[in-house]
Amino acid sequence: MLPATLLGCNVGASLRILGIESSCDDTGAAVIEGDVGAAKILSNIVFGQTELHADFGGVVPEIAARAHAERLDHVVRSALSESGTTLADVDAIAVTSGPGLIGGVVAGVMCAKGLAAGSGKPLLGVNHLAGHALTPRLTDGVAYPFVMLLVSGGHCQFLIVRGPEEFNRLGGTIDDAPGEAFDKTAKLLGLEQPGGPAVERVARDGNPKRFTFPRPLLAQPGCDMSFSGLKTALLRARDAVIEEKSGVTPQDRADLCAGFQAAVVDVLRAKTKQALNIYAEENASAPLLAVAGGVAANGPIREALQTLCRDQNVAFTAPPLALCTDNAAMIGYAGLERFALGRRDDMTLSARPRWPLDPNAAPMLGSGKKGAKA
Ligand code: KG4
Ligand code: ZN
Repeated sequence: MLPATLLGCNVGASLRILGIESSCDDTGAAVIEGDVGAAKILSNIVFGQTELHADFGGVVPEIAARAHAERLDHVVRSALSESGTTLADVDAIAVTSGPGLIGGVVAGVMCAKGLAAGSGKPLLGVNHLAGHALTPRLTDGVAYPFVMLLVSGGHCQFLIVRGPEEFNRLGGTIDDAPGEAFDKTAKLLGLEQPGGPAVERVARDGNPKRFTFPRPLLAQPGCDMSFSGLKTALLRARDAVIEEKSGVTPQDRADLCAGFQAAVVDVLRAKTKQALNIYAEENASAPLLAVAGGVAANGPIREALQTLCRDQNVAFTAPPLALCTDNAAMIGYAGLERFALGRRDDMTLSARPRWPLDPNAAPMLGSGKKGAKA
């Protein structure tokens, strides 16, 4: 059942966009309809690959790419039929063209190009991160500008979202993304992947104070973050427990998860406060924080940010859980905003493994030799 905010009526020129997503381990297709800031989801099909990667403790790019290639046409067909639409009824085809695992992105782009060539419909390449960042405009019609914490398996950054193609990065992780740390934690503790939901579930029975994990960069100004030390600290704490007891009990596991999650919550809360302070210097009237990305599905993180915003007199919005994790509705919507700007791509559209939202922001440390991933 879609949330009520998604079922509103169209205003202005109504566009219908087919969205396609395949940048990580979810194959998605969706049809959305409406106008900029006032669109609704007609269908949103997500075919996850969790079971395909389960034995490997993480997403295997080659397996992901093959599965996307096998499933894309099925999810597109399902999305069209569930929305009561045919390809002839859509105004454009929007596809994630980066950043992401390149084999999967290529599979999606090839599928979209084939559909565009066959139907004569315009093609739009969409930045996956823009899809996440614009989700609050799809779900709640949030007005520009707003502050966004984009926090997922591969990314963690604070952005001022000014327009569909205009983002300023205020700061972000200098090493790992929190989702990656959640996934690693789950792997180290023998929990299933993706690790975020598993760690959150197990942490409910744990004591967050038993293990003290680091909160790096907390005392530093600005809103950069670091999560790689947290992973290492968790590994050490787990190994210390194993050495002491020759194993990890369910209670140990719960306490480790709770301690880990509490550290992530503290870092995100403190750095969000700093990001809001930076934003306040520019725009003190009616500030709004939106969170998006898979980790934004985490209950304690959402609650901490909501409470922070209440205390700071900042409006807060978080998309429904199904629209926090990867999906094609957000890609369709970001495509709709680009389409409304008059943007069109053609058959030269290429898949980009790296594609920062803010090209003017300095690449973060640890972003690799090939430059900033995002
Ligand atoms: O946005 P997303 O679906 O994919 C990208 O990374 O782009 O995010 C997936 C990440 C995974 O690392 C997963 O463990 C994490 O989001 N995640 C969570 C939760 N649900 C998903 N992390 C913490 N708590 C959750 N409830
Ligand atoms: Zn994502």
